[in-house]
Amino acid sequence: MVETVKLIIDTDPGVDDAMAIFYAAAAPEIELLGLTSIFGNVTVEMATRNALRLREAAGLAVPVAQGAQVPRVLPPFKPSFHVHGDEGFGDIPAKTPKGRAIDESAAAFLCRMAREHAGELVLCPIGPLTNIAAAIDLDPDFIRNVKRIVLMGGSYREGGNITPHAEANIYHDPHAAEVVFASGAHVEMVGLDVTHRILCRPEDFADMASAAPKLGGMLQDMSHFYLKFYESVGKLDGCSLHDPAAVIACTHPELFTAEAVPITVSCDADTSGATLKAEDSRAATQVYTAVDAAAVKALFMQRIQQLP
Ligand code: BDR
Ligand code: CA
Repeated sequence: MVETVKLIIDTDPGVDDAMAIFYAAAAPEIELLGLTSIFGNVTVEMATRNALRLREAAGLAVPVAQGAQVPRVLPPFKPSFHVHGDEGFGDIPAKTPKGRAIDESAAAFLCRMAREHAGELVLCPIGPLTNIAAAIDLDPDFIRNVKRIVLMGGSYREGGNITPHAEANIYHDPHAAEVVFASGAHVEMVGLDVTHRILCRPEDFADMASAAPKLGGMLQDMSHFYLKFYESVGKLDGCSLHDPAAVIACTHPELFTAEAVPITVSCDADTSGATLKAEDSRAATQVYTAVDAAAVKALFMQRIQQLP
């Protein structure tokens, strides 16, 4: 029997978020317990709608809880429509999903699930960390109840992608990220040092679509806009598997190399969102600094190709 990981994905879907959620749907080691939405690539209302659409498309029977609308301290950012398209899924038009979100906030849902699955729940945030900081505020036992927080975000030696210093998820709520890194929780940072090494090209999306016409086809439809954005910034080798890498790290950490480094987040205007080595006595974060990119990519492709 495959040993499963009980997982919640906190997400701002988003093209690579969709790839991550479809991967989770296909992975036999993942027992998905829910999705929580967050602003970022799109508004939080759109993130909730998109999470519900992905749930429906993938036939997942999991709750979706809506999260924060705005960052903890900073004024709201404009969504990243230029990266992920006006609705979050590249050129795919908006469609109203059948289901709706539960009547519980993302933070309250996270605290309840962490309590009910104390010591077992793995949390995979793939958007700004506002909901996770809110859950830490809400329940003093939250960080003890959660087994691992494996987040897509940050950059240790790689430099940023939204500014020269910062990765987008951390940049969009540096104050929340600082709360998470300083909390003492078991945090693993799957940042640009590894996600920039794992690339997906147009021919990979074509392979996904031919093996998995419904869901692989949906990813291929989304990919055109996303790949064009990458080309527009001079990245001609394909798009990064940012969010899928974090989900894969939840079940296959052996495919990565991690360094134990205490991390702090700059909230200064000129370097906002930079993830830096902390000089205080906070707990170390497992910072992913190297990856077997071919193995992660192969696992991703293999799993997506098993979908309908
Ligand atoms: C992260 O930012 C978002 O645009 C992606 O979905 C990913 O979570 C990469 O920096
Ligand atoms: Ca994301």
